[in-house]
Amino acid sequence: MINAEPSGPVQIQTISNDDDVVRVRQLVRSVAVAVKLTLVDQTKVVTAASELARNTLIHGGGGQAEVQQVSNGRRDGVRIVFIDEGSGIGDIDRAFTDGYSTGGGLGLGLAGARRLMDEFDLQTKVGGGTTVTAVKWQR
Ligand SMILES: Nc1ncnc2c1ncn2[C@@H]1O[C@H](COP(=O)(O)OP(=O)(O)OP(=O)(O)O)[C@@H](O)[C@H]1O
Ligand SMILES: [Mg+2]
Repeated sequence: MINAEPSGPVQIQTISNDDDVVRVRQLVRSVAVAVKLTLVDQTKVVTAASELARNTLIHGGGGQAEVQQVSNGRRDGVRIVFIDEGSGIGDIDRAFTDGYSTGGGLGLGLAGARRLMDEFDLQTKVGGGTTVTAVKWQR
C-alpha cells in the first residue's frame, strides 16, 4: 500500500497510440514541474512514465494513464497510474527481471521504471488486465 493522498486534480490520458505516449510524457512533466521536483527527478518520472505507457500500449492493448499531485503529509509528489484491461502478467517476478521480454523488447522497461520511482505497485490478473501505480516524492 502506497501512502499518498490526492492534493491536486487527477488528469487522465487515454493510451491508444504513440502520440498518446508523448502526451503522457508531457502531462507527467507538467505535474512534476508543478510539484517542484528537481530536474533530475522530473526526468526520472517522465522516463518511467514513458516505459509504463509503452507497456500499456504494447502489452496491455491500450488503456489509460492517471496523473495527480499527491501528499503523504510531509511531502508532495507525483503519482502515475497505468491501467489496462489486457491479458495481464502471468509471472510477475520474470516480468521484473532485466532482459525478460515477451515482445521482443530489451526487457528493461518495468524493472527500470521501478528503480526510477520511490514507490511502485503492480496489480495484475491473467486475463484481467494490469494496473501499475508509482510515486516520485519531492526531495
Ligand atoms: N501492461 C502489461 N500487460 C501485460 N504484460 C505486461 C505489461 N507490462 C509488462 N508486461 C510483461 O512484462 C514483460 C517485461 O516488461 P518490460 O517493460 O520490462 O519489457 P518489454 O516491454 O518487453 O521491453 P522494453 O520495455 O525493454 O522495450 C513484457 O515483455 C510483458 O510480457
Ligand atoms: Mg516495456
